[in-house]
Amino acid sequence: MDTTRTSVNWARVCTVGELGPGEATTLDVQPPIAVFNVDGSFYAIDDTCTHETFSLAEGYLEGTQVECPLHFARFDLETGDALCAPATVGVRTYPVKTEDDEVLVDVSSRG
Ligand code: FES
Repeated sequence: MDTTRTSVNWARVCTVGELGPGEATTLDVQPPIAVFNVDGSFYAIDDTCTHETFSLAEGYLEGTQVECPLHFARFDLETGDALCAPATVGVRTYPVKTEDDEVLVDVSSRG
């Protein structure tokens, strides 16, 4: 049966077991997307900090916030909002789901 094309475009990130609670990884698209596991809930945001160019997947998780390790701006994983200086611009968020033991991110908004 042919798969009906929709506006959703799920990209495989990894298996659920490969991304444990408190861990992060990146989806290798351009620009990359960071995917986080916060106590079993998955979040996806643009990986690149909006202050300068640094990977937020390498940042420090605190609840549903990630702190950039370079100059300590924080971003909300649920909304993408920049929560403190030096970042003033938020990051994009992406829908995430798990299916058949895989973590999937909807990259359709990338166009
Ligand atoms: S590069 Fe992230 S806070 Fe400066």
